[in-house]
Amino acid sequence: MEGALTARDRVGIQDFVLLDETTEAAFLSNLKKRFSKDLIYTYIGTLLVSVNPYKELDIYNKKQMDIYMGVNFFELPPHIYALADNAYHTMLTEFNNHFILISGESGAGKTEASKKILQYYAVSCPSTTLLNTVRDKMLMSNPVLEAFGNAKTLKNDNSSRFGKYMDIQFDSQGDAVGGHILNYLLEKSRVVHQNHGERNFHIFYQLVEGGSDDLLHQLGLERGCQHYNYLTQGQCPIVPSINDKNDWKTVKNALQIISFDETATNHLFEVIASVLHLGNVRFDSDSKGHALLNNNTELHWVSNLLGVDAHRLQEGLTFRKIEAKKDQVLSPFTTDHAIYARDALAKAIYGQTFTWLVNRINESMENEDPSRKTVIGLLDIYGFEVFYVNSFEQFCINYCNEKLQQLFIELTLKSEQEEYEAEGIEWEPVQFFNNKIICDLIEEKHTGIISLLDEECLRPGDATDLTFLERLEEKMGNHPHFVTHKLADKMTRKTLERGDFRLLHYAGEVTYCVVGFLDKNNDLLYRNIKDLMCQSKNDIVKECFSSMDPDSRRRPETVVTQFKSSLQKLTEILVAKEAWYIRCLKSNESKQSGQFDEALIRHQVKYLGLMEHLRVRRAGFAYRRKYDVFLKRYKPLCPATWPHWRGVAADGVEVLVQHLGYLPDEYKMGRTKIFIRHPRTLFATEDAYEKCKHELATRIQAKYKGYRAKGEYRKQKEAATKIESCWRGTQARKEKEKRAWAVKVIKKFIKGYMTRGQAKNTDNSEYLAFVRQNYLNRLRDNLPKTVLDKTPWLTPPAVLTETSEMLRKLHYRLMVRKYVRGITPQKKAQFEMKLITSSVFKGKKDSYPQSVAHPFADTRISEEDINTRVIQMIRNERIKYCVPVIKYDRNGFKPRQRQLILTQTAVYVVEEAKIKQRVLYTSLKEISVSNLTDSTIVFHITREEPKQKGDLVVQCDHLFELLTKLCVIANKQNAIKVVQGSINFEIQAGKGGAVDFSTGPEPMVYKAKNGHLMVETTKEMITMSAENTSAQKEMNLRNLG
Ligand SMILES: Nc1ncnc2c1ncn2[C@@H]1O[C@H](COP(=O)(O)OP(=O)(O)O)[C@@H](O)[C@H]1O
Ligand SMILES: [Mg+2]
Repeated sequence: MEGALTARDRVGIQDFVLLDETTEAAFLSNLKKRFSKDLIYTYIGTLLVSVNPYKELDIYNKKQMDIYMGVNFFELPPHIYALADNAYHTMLTEFNNHFILISGESGAGKTEASKKILQYYAVSCPSTTLLNTVRDKMLMSNPVLEAFGNAKTLKNDNSSRFGKYMDIQFDSQGDAVGGHILNYLLEKSRVVHQNHGERNFHIFYQLVEGGSDDLLHQLGLERGCQHYNYLTQGQCPIVPSINDKNDWKTVKNALQIISFDETATNHLFEVIASVLHLGNVRFDSDSKGHALLNNNTELHWVSNLLGVDAHRLQEGLTFRKIEAKKDQVLSPFTTDHAIYARDALAKAIYGQTFTWLVNRINESMENEDPSRKTVIGLLDIYGFEVFYVNSFEQFCINYCNEKLQQLFIELTLKSEQEEYEAEGIEWEPVQFFNNKIICDLIEEKHTGIISLLDEECLRPGDATDLTFLERLEEKMGNHPHFVTHKLADKMTRKTLERGDFRLLHYAGEVTYCVVGFLDKNNDLLYRNIKDLMCQSKNDIVKECFSSMDPDSRRRPETVVTQFKSSLQKLTEILVAKEAWYIRCLKSNESKQSGQFDEALIRHQVKYLGLMEHLRVRRAGFAYRRKYDVFLKRYKPLCPATWPHWRGVAADGVEVLVQHLGYLPDEYKMGRTKIFIRHPRTLFATEDAYEKCKHELATRIQAKYKGYRAKGEYRKQKEAATKIESCWRGTQARKEKEKRAWAVKVIKKFIKGYMTRGQAKNTDNSEYLAFVRQNYLNRLRDNLPKTVLDKTPWLTPPAVLTETSEMLRKLHYRLMVRKYVRGITPQKKAQFEMKLITSSVFKGKKDSYPQSVAHPFADTRISEEDINTRVIQMIRNERIKYCVPVIKYDRNGFKPRQRQLILTQTAVYVVEEAKIKQRVLYTSLKEISVSNLTDSTIVFHITREEPKQKGDLVVQCDHLFELLTKLCVIANKQNAIKVVQGSINFEIQAGKGGAVDFSTGPEPMVYKAKNGHLMVETTKEMITMSAENTSAQKEMNLRNLG
């Protein structure tokens, strides 16, 4: 926001002191440039130049006030608030009195400026509710005084027709605690006469336009200005820029705030109304030319409203009372005289009432607290004025402006001079126009215009305005600032009337018409009227006239002398204070916004002495700053002074400017300040500062961000540590609990373990339960899956021995049951057979265990493979089983391939179609096999006849199957013998043979030398594949062969 504000305000140059050339053209160009951007304020050092914009600018709001509050004067763009604030803060820190002199010609914006300042203080100063009422009264005094003291003139629709100096009192805290107003010379003549295009004081119009019907009725008034002589002479009662009705409301409200009660208000309005009625009082003349009242109504209203006797009033207006010794003689007036008396009364009433009003306002703003106060005085006095016709009033007003200009010159020069002296800096005086010469022309004792005017007014005899003019011409004849028709050269004379005199004021020439000077200066009110007014029933009138001049014998001071002495007093008041200046410039004569009348402004710049002021400011050194202030602002520009200079500020400044490369003649070091000669030097420094400010801002920002981030990081870290330690604590506590629990459990476990052998008790019950459970779980996972599964049954702990055994049995039974359920009848038959095999061979023959796993077949040779003849031959005996065998001849043990067929009744040895041998089961007495792994079988046969063939020696691969079948078919279990050693047999009746068995590396069958059949077998059964088996057989056969 401030940045934008500053940027916007960087149009032109904010301080004329920094202009590179001090020419009027440069000055005006800068003013114009800024004005075109609505930048109406520009500084000349601490002086504020303001150009009337004639439009509302959005720069007087609360936000703006806040921006300027407490900020260094040059830090922000020029503003009236900056000046107000600076004066205020200087007052607070130095605890001294100040005043702000607002000057400029009529309509330049002085009154507006003073209002802005008052508003600023009202809003910005610290406050309490009590003080708020004081503040409101100060603010509200304005509309009331403006209503009674301002009027529309040709120059200004709201022209102040009185001078106003207002003290704002502050306590040591800076609170605005009271106020006091001094008023100067109200332009009373306006009450009875207005020039064309001008109006009477606002209050009259406000009353007749805005007053309620009741009020108007009560005051005998009619609505509308047109009914009143005093309101219509200027012929412009209605002005577009003025809203009388609204203003009336504002004034009524303001009167309430400044504690006017109803009676006082009524009396005030009665006075105003009486003036209007007075204006309508007309006179006729009788035959002798004496004045006669032509209508009594208005007079009655006046006597009514003022509370005076109507008859005496009429007498007062038409007769003059002459005191001759002790007698009083009434001398009748001519009509002119009567009118004069009437107007004099109207002016007097109004003028006195205005003073009374100011006093009342002062009473209401008064602060009775005796503690010391400091004040800021606001001087808003009528500005320099030039009309087509200028009279006594303009003379006074312009004289006042001369005095103020004189004061300004003295103060600015004086302060400058004093400053250089105080600081020990050499100083060269600057040439400027000193208007003292004009002031002297006007006010010098005995020889000044004022003295001459008074002389004329007071001297006996026929003094007139013209005799006054003659006196002037006599005395001032060759004064360079004075000219009249008579004194003028040819050229000038053309511009002057005979009754005129011309003053060459500092602000320009003004031609005054002497007509009325004496009367206005005398301001006489006839004694009888004055006395009458003292008896008024209207408190205001009574009070005013009673106090008018207590010593009635002495001739009152003339108006101009009063004015002169009041200005003298004002000067005294002002020089005792520190001055601040606002120079208001009027941008154009037509009150138009946006119009910059260069000629008009050049003229004002000239007569206001702005160029001189500027030159004075720049004479020696354009800029000066207190060391600490300078150092504080620019210290970032030098590493030695940034961020802190530890020594004396002056030394710091010296170091700083050395670093900045200031040349020796560019600056001077005073006692407390540095003086910089050229604006460009400060400019360069300021530019460098602007640039550096950004860098600094970035650095400070970075630092600050870093600092913030660090803080944040530290905080986070602390938080993390806290959380961590908390978490660790929780974990540790959990761990501890867990361990405590574990210790308990382990202890219990150990105890349980140690007492595991005892009957269940508290010590071991859990342990045992655990062991039990553990065992059962393990057991569950390691159970044998089937009956044949050889997984060993888990060894149980001692307590579970019994249970385990029961479980084992149960489990086996269950498996068996399952297994049995899954067995087919065929398989069952097989098993039954295997059972038989087992009962016969188990534990007897070495090859038995190997055989268990091989299931028995129904037969080994299908019927198709048996010769049909053989089948034919044995068809009556059902074939039960067939198997291929090798039969060994009884003589020589030649091996022969044969088929062995078991029927119901006999065993057949078959070779192709021949049945080689038939052995009935009944004759089969025994069957022998060895205990080894071989597969040799010897069938021992009972021979009934000797011829019958001997025992049968065969070798059968399916030994167990064959023999089991035989057991089943022929019930021969008991006939089977497993023999250790040799098996003897009968080759034929009476002739024996033997089969010997031995173990060797390979199975082999051959006829041994002892004539026995030698069967060699391996120690363990060699599981041979079918092929191997047949290969083996072949080999055996070959060996045998
Ligand atoms: N700062 C301002 N902003 C807007 N208008 C202004 C400003 N100053 C003056 N004016 C206008 O100019 C008119 C005359 O100003 P005023 O202060 O009465 O002049 P002065 O008191 O110098 O005769 C005001 O009524 C107002 O319209
Ligand atoms: Mg004014």
